[in-house]
Amino acid sequence: MANLKHKLENPIFHQIAQVAKESNTKVYVIGGYVRDLLLGIPCKDLDFVIAGSGIEFAQKIGEKLKCKRNVVVYRNFGTAMLRYRGIELEFVGARKESYDRNSRKPIVEDGTLDDDQKRRDFTINALAISLNPEDFGELTDPFNGLKDLENQIIKTPLDPDITFSDDPLRMLRAIRFACRLGFTIHPQTEAAIAKNKERMSIVSKERIVDELNKIMMTNNPSVGFKLLDKTGLLELILPQLTKLKGVEVKEGRAHKEIFLHTLQVLDNVAAVSDNMWLRYAALFHDIAKPNVKKFINNTWTFHNHEFIGAKMIPTIFKAMKLPLNDKMKYVQKIVGMHHRAIPISNNEITDSAVRRLMYDAGTDLDDLLILCEADITSKIEEKKIKFLNNYKIVRRKIKELEQKDFRRTWQPPIDGNFIMETFNLKPSRLVGQIKDCIKDSILDGKIENTFEAAYNLMLKKGEENGLKPVKNLSENK
Ligand code: CTP
Repeated sequence: MANLKHKLENPIFHQIAQVAKESNTKVYVIGGYVRDLLLGIPCKDLDFVIAGSGIEFAQKIGEKLKCKRNVVVYRNFGTAMLRYRGIELEFVGARKESYDRNSRKPIVEDGTLDDDQKRRDFTINALAISLNPEDFGELTDPFNGLKDLENQIIKTPLDPDITFSDDPLRMLRAIRFACRLGFTIHPQTEAAIAKNKERMSIVSKERIVDELNKIMMTNNPSVGFKLLDKTGLLELILPQLTKLKGVEVKEGRAHKEIFLHTLQVLDNVAAVSDNMWLRYAALFHDIAKPNVKKFINNTWTFHNHEFIGAKMIPTIFKAMKLPLNDKMKYVQKIVGMHHRAIPISNNEITDSAVRRLMYDAGTDLDDLLILCEADITSKIEEKKIKFLNNYKIVRRKIKELEQKDFRRTWQPPIDGNFIMETFNLKPSRLVGQIKDCIKDSILDGKIENTFEAAYNLMLKKGEENGLKPVKNLSENK
């Protein structure tokens, strides 16, 4: 068996080995840390399995490292955690586990290292390295995890039906690891996901979303979503997305396959932005298309899909237990506006259209443009280049306007209160009309973007409506 002593560079391993020796206890580093170490990926979470009590061992380590107060004990789970110099150390006693069919809570009994490895999710996560003096650095690999790492395979150590039935969240973990590492799920393991998919019903929404967020944050989230779809999990987790699948043909005309287009847009966004919520906006940008699809005059139309899509977001977020806060509002805004920039970029790109886009999108303008560009998935290279070029012009125009007289955080120089004070008005529709007229006139370039120009227009509009100012400019300013 391989010895990985040379890879255990962090002095913490030697300190742990020292405590293991002093207390005559067997200790192994196991799980994700070993997997990532062998893959050359940095990892700051270290899991240790102890032949004995994980809690007692953690307390001894706390003493050794002079940070006993940092040891957090989870007595119910028989584990203890310790944060030390930016890394997280978790200690658990080797266990044999079996699971109650109706919950993810294991029934825990003491066990050996071998028992513990058996109850882990995947062979690549069951690898353990000894920290014991007699075989320090020795790899324990009863399920050929090393070979699976080399062959890039996700496979359960036991019969996958048992592993997944024990903890159905592992089905999502399999997909997440496949997506993150670019690995293939072993055919038997993949078939077992499809077979056991209904067991997801005992997993909390929070855990599901946690895994989904991790899939969203990989370099190619489309890989995860295709696997979720293939195994039937997507239908259970996000049924709205599976409705995007398929192509309808009428009178010989087919529309674009929206599911694959969506996943392409998601990957395009992921290639340039780590903003998870922008990635969610990409995932949901065409979510309403099946609801509004019509075949009129020999063409497929999807009128208003962006507005209807934005309206669907709260329902989807609520069902998924995604946050119902400003993040949701942001996704709604981007989905609702994702078609706004298209006519601007396709027609002559006027200052007023760009000013309006800047005003409406505000500080989310850059993100909106990222989605608009990602949405160009045409297979015709010429078309793609032309559209992308148009967005370059839009971006240039935004810069020009910002240098000239306009900020994306712009607010009209005169607000409703000012109008009410000037004319001694109560809140009314007329106040809103004057306010909008000032805003629109500046955005359309009809008047200058200055207080004076806005003030004069306000007086003119007041006069047209039979209003006289009760305060002059110096009193009101
Ligand atoms: N594990 C498991 N079943 C689960 C969760 C975790 O068997 N449902 C085991 C695996 O051996 C895993 C280890 O516990 O490697 C640690 O779990 P966790 O920290 O959640 O995952 P990592 O594998 O470390 O990967 P990551 O940190 O990327 O999530």
